[in-house]
Amino acid sequence: MCCGETWRMEFFNRWLEQGSRQGAARRLAPWVLGVGGALALRWETVTVAGLTRRLRVAWVSDVHLWRRGTIRTVRAVILAVREARPDVVVLGGDLVDAKMGLRQLELLVRALIRVAPLWALPGNHDESFGVGRVEAAVRRAGGSWLPDGPAHVAGGEVRLMTGDAQRWMSRVGGFIVACVHNPATARAWDGAASVVLAGHLHGGQIVLMESGGRAWPCALVYRWCGPRFELPLGTTLLVGRGAGDQLPVRWCCPREVLCVDLVPGKMGCGETL
Ligand SMILES: [Fe+2]
Repeated sequence: MCCGETWRMEFFNRWLEQGSRQGAARRLAPWVLGVGGALALRWETVTVAGLTRRLRVAWVSDVHLWRRGTIRTVRAVILAVREARPDVVVLGGDLVDAKMGLRQLELLVRALIRVAPLWALPGNHDESFGVGRVEAAVRRAGGSWLPDGPAHVAGGEVRLMTGDAQRWMSRVGGFIVACVHNPATARAWDGAASVVLAGHLHGGQIVLMESGGRAWPCALVYRWCGPRFELPLGTTLLVGRGAGDQLPVRWCCPREVLCVDLVPGKMGCGETL
């Protein structure tokens, strides 16, 4: 690491510590304008019959790193994930929109792997920017790339998976946490995964009303614009509101880190692993 890089890291670390002290008194306003600002921690619990140990996943989607100011998103995510104390971290796509975001992504991954093992997957914006470059940045910083194949966590009891459900389903056992960027693809995992984690919709960004478990008016256009859905075959779909935006305006829709606790439940009659 050269002198300039060392100095930058030192400056960034001091700025982080300042943020953690200020963060203790944070309050989330309904309006969010511009990038950065404290993130909400949204807690969700999913009971999994037959699971023998708890697992906490921090799902961080839609950070949209692309310009100088989005370093504030990096800081906000690091502070929120530290507070959540997860067992694993998953970056759920739409990570980088422009070249400047690559360095910020590396900084983010380097900090988060100090909290917990980290996997990442791409979103539609990463595909536009260049999935190969995003993947390389994640790997350089010490993270793992989930599209490579299932990741075994919780002592091997749980698999984090992404991509083509049919390709993997017949090859793995145990409990599945499916990680997709777009919730429109979640149904492919219904009945096979305990939970599907998604992002992409940013919670609708401007929420005028919540009704029927969905956020409006976004739900007029997107079926899965809501925080949590129970799919017909028993899988829970959790849709994160995202930690950043390309168009940084929100109303009653806080940016967030989604913290999912998988907790052991009793096996029902006829259920098998
Ligand atoms: Fe996004």
